[in-house]
Amino acid sequence: MDNPIIQSMLQRKSVRKYSKQQPTDDVIESVVRAGQQAPFAAQLYSVLLNRKKRNPFGAPLLFTICVDMHKLELIMARRGWKTVSNNLSMLFFGIQDAAYMAENMVMAAESLGMGSCFIGGTPYNAAKIQKTYHLPLRVFPLVELTMGYPAEEFPPRPRYPLEYTLFEDRYPEMTEEMVTRAMQSMDEGYLSQGYYLKQKAKIDIEVEGKEEAFTYQDYSWTEHISRKWGQWLADPTELLEQLAACGFEIELAEKK
Ligand SMILES: Cc1cc2nc3c(=O)[nH]c(=O)nc-3n(C[C@H](O)[C@H](O)[C@H](O)COP(=O)(O)O)c2cc1C
Repeated sequence: MDNPIIQSMLQRKSVRKYSKQQPTDDVIESVVRAGQQAPFAAQLYSVLLNRKKRNPFGAPLLFTICVDMHKLELIMARRGWKTVSNNLSMLFFGIQDAAYMAENMVMAAESLGMGSCFIGGTPYNAAKIQKTYHLPLRVFPLVELTMGYPAEEFPPRPRYPLEYTLFEDRYPEMTEEMVTRAMQSMDEGYLSQGYYLKQKAKIDIEVEGKEEAFTYQDYSWTEHISRKWGQWLADPTELLEQLAACGFEIELAEKK
């Protein structure tokens, strides 16, 4: 199966080098309008734009896509209602609304000859972003998205084989061979691009009892991702504090 939309999706990749060309207001508005047309639970998002300051990767545009309950609550108040839905449930819906919108923006950007890259640390800077953009409570910065015209050319990055992704009728027993094939396709794909070497992105080993056994010759995705989630973010307190600062307390005591 092949058509221009599928081709564009299969060719998309995260861009970390941008030309100086500024996208016009028309281009920006088209991207955000296309984003808005994503499926939604309750349009629980807002999009912040920065094109004044130095952005990550030198991108001309930096969007911050936020989960936004504030705007909905303004409308509900007009209707004489208050939210009783718990914050965890609303965050699940809000994160989906914001994420589907963000991905629509990514593909709209592709269609206009631009590239983009998400920045995942945003929730941990939420309180700072809240100050910078004067966010009201009930708005939580979920993810940042750099965007602009690419100044680099490279092939798409690998993905798991479909046998490790699509399971019809029942989840399969994962065989050793399936795991090996999945790891191989990811590791070989990233190594062949020199992905971690180019970005100097090797994560240091911080835990005791593990020795560094990799160089950029064999360090690839499966080791990288294992070091991330095997070492980082053990304690949820920091994220819970950022959520609370933005008006999203997550506590079991919420349950009345
Ligand atoms: C939620 C999320 C957070 C991300 N955070 C970062 C980031 O902080 N820095 C970065 O360079 N890329 C980031 N990325 C981009 C991923 O590294 C990239 O999508 C992944 O390696 C697959 O590569 P591809 O998009 O080129 O196919 C993020 C992507 C997502 C979806």
